[in-house]
Amino acid sequence: MIIYEHMKMSDCEKAAELESVIFRGDAWSADDFRESLCCDYAVYVVARDTDEDSMVACAGIRNMCGDGDITNVLVDKAYREHGIAEHLLRYLMQEGEKIGVRNFTLEVRITNTPAIKLYEKLGFVSEGVRPGFYDDPKEDAVIFWKRKKEGV
Ligand SMILES: CC(C)(COP(=O)(O)OP(=O)(O)OC[C@H]1O[C@@H](n2cnc3c(N)ncnc32)[C@H](O)[C@@H]1OP(=O)(O)O)[C@@H](O)C(=O)NCCC(=O)NCCS
Repeated sequence: MIIYEHMKMSDCEKAAELESVIFRGDAWSADDFRESLCCDYAVYVVARDTDEDSMVACAGIRNMCGDGDITNVLVDKAYREHGIAEHLLRYLMQEGEKIGVRNFTLEVRITNTPAIKLYEKLGFVSEGVRPGFYDDPKEDAVIFWKRKKEGV
């Protein structure tokens, strides 16, 4: 069974391991995750396969004056295309609102079709491109926002 919950200190090594496979040079270390878990303006969540006792996905958000910057979105390759990222991000945004986030934003490589489709499905809208934002390979970033409607 897949469950969704806040990241624990004991998840940081596995999160860093998944990051290094997926994001290589841009990967966070276990210490980066540990430091982030200590911030009261950040929330990190995971998906866990309870049958395997294994963390299979993670994502995080940092609240800056009501704007939540979403980072570290990843799903273990063996668990993709089963709705885990969609469920995890809905959970992350719900938990983000509890620490005051109203608007959500993130950057994504312009060629990362699975992630772009995922964010669009969740109601994110492209508001621009940061040319050459990523290295290795050099690539533009699309900037997505999901803004709370006025009066809601
Ligand atoms: C992007 C990623 C997080 C998606 O995770 P996932 O658990 O496989 O996604 P889900 O199964 O929840 O899919 C939800 C939606 O995302 C989109 N999507 C996911 N994988 C897709 C694919 N391979 N091709 C096209 N759309 C895709 C679809 O819209 C899908 O909805 P649908 O099933 O109704 O079509 C995963 O591919 C991943 O970890 N990629 C590597 C890390 C990464 O790129 N992170 C994002 C950095 S900004």
